[in-house]
Amino acid sequence: MKKLFIKTYGCQMNAYDSARMADLLAPLGYGAALAPEDADMVILNTCHIREKAAEKVYSELGRMAALKRQKPGMLVAVAGCVAQAEGEEMVRRQPAIDMVVGPQSYHRLPEMIARHARQAGHVLEADFPALEKFDHLPESVSDTGISAFLTVQEGCDKFCTFCVVPYTRGPEYSRGPERILAEARALAAKGAREIVLLGQNVNAYRGVASDGKTWNLARLIEAMAGISDVHRIRYTTSHPRDMNNDLIAAHGAIEKLMPFLHLPVQSGSDSVLAAMNRQHTAADYLSLIEGLRAVRSGIAFSSDFIVGFPGESDADFEATMALVREVKFAQCFSFKYSPRPGTPAAAKKPVPESVKNERLQALQALLLCQQDEANLAAIGKTMPVLFEKPGRIKGQLVGRTPWLQPVHVQAPQSLIGATRDVKIASLTANSLHGALVAKDVQTKSVMA
Ligand code: 5AD
Ligand code: SF4
Repeated sequence: MKKLFIKTYGCQMNAYDSARMADLLAPLGYGAALAPEDADMVILNTCHIREKAAEKVYSELGRMAALKRQKPGMLVAVAGCVAQAEGEEMVRRQPAIDMVVGPQSYHRLPEMIARHARQAGHVLEADFPALEKFDHLPESVSDTGISAFLTVQEGCDKFCTFCVVPYTRGPEYSRGPERILAEARALAAKGAREIVLLGQNVNAYRGVASDGKTWNLARLIEAMAGISDVHRIRYTTSHPRDMNNDLIAAHGAIEKLMPFLHLPVQSGSDSVLAAMNRQHTAADYLSLIEGLRAVRSGIAFSSDFIVGFPGESDADFEATMALVREVKFAQCFSFKYSPRPGTPAAAKKPVPESVKNERLQALQALLLCQQDEANLAAIGKTMPVLFEKPGRIKGQLVGRTPWLQPVHVQAPQSLIGATRDVKIASLTANSLHGALVAKDVQTKSVMA
């Protein structure tokens, strides 16, 4: 048996792709290696979103080149968005690379391995045949876990002026709903109880069914909610522009759709939003939040923010802080603007690094405060927790609330995959701690 080690960088789409690559190579006799040192093949599944992410890949490649000198037969493949964006340059910079494969071409890995065995030199594949890819992927054989990712949509046509995704992931493409539902059923049969629908622009989903009808995301979620073993549904990442009325209504109507939404806004300033080509205003965003809160009380939000976008003034930044204060987010990601080669904003005059740092610090302090508030509000409440895995302490399980907060609970192993009411007692760092409510403790032996 040969051993495969995949190192994944970046977003959840990459995590999904890594699992699919493992599935693809399993029939070739590749099993999982625990470390690159034990591997016959190493795949770095890379991220190009910010400069730091791309840099990390090059330093890891340096380590792989050194390892390869000790193990000459080892294959080194680079996949993902850095591969897509700068594949040829990568091979020039690091000759230890055997294969370069883009995010839409990795279904060709088995063929590329065969070609590599036949011919000397590097094998490069970086087309955009998304239509083809999903038809060529085998059914998942890897361990899915209780919460499973399922890619329903890929690519992006939005062209935000800071972002590489439309260039690395290609145009928007949606998978057909029947295939998606079949994959969800297969995941549920393997034990998944939560399905996270993935897409770079997931709420732009427009899948064409075999009868020629187009489904939107709301319809897909509604159909998925009909799978009895799927207990929770989430979707990420969404664009405010595609947050249509059907989808907002779905949050009120579909119990299994969790009351937590990641809806990136990037900035609270209308002029920065316009320069970013986001095609909505701060007020548009706030009215979406209001609409969602109206149909589902208790819904919580997370977002992404960029500070120090070219041209961002103090007043623009203040508008971002004001929007954050108004929404009160449960959790957020925030980044300093990082100029990406080939994107329109990269040509603009940069905001000084010191200003970026100051703004990021101020924003993160505020966001952290809000996150703590959201977590502290859970203390004393009873909430349904879906148990995902054993905790580090014996007899403990880790699960999640509907709002994605991790919860540590003393509970029998047999409850992995089950949802039970937990009374939240305390908070440490970012984890909640609680106890099964009495009913479950008493009936423990019955449930086990
Ligand atoms: N610089 C900084 N952050 C970026 N993001 C995307 N491109 C850039 C960039 N050039 C952030 C956005 C996006 C998240 C995935 O990464 O906030 O929502
Ligand atoms: Fe990038 Fe904007 Fe597309 Fe999101 S919507 S992937 S930020 S271009």
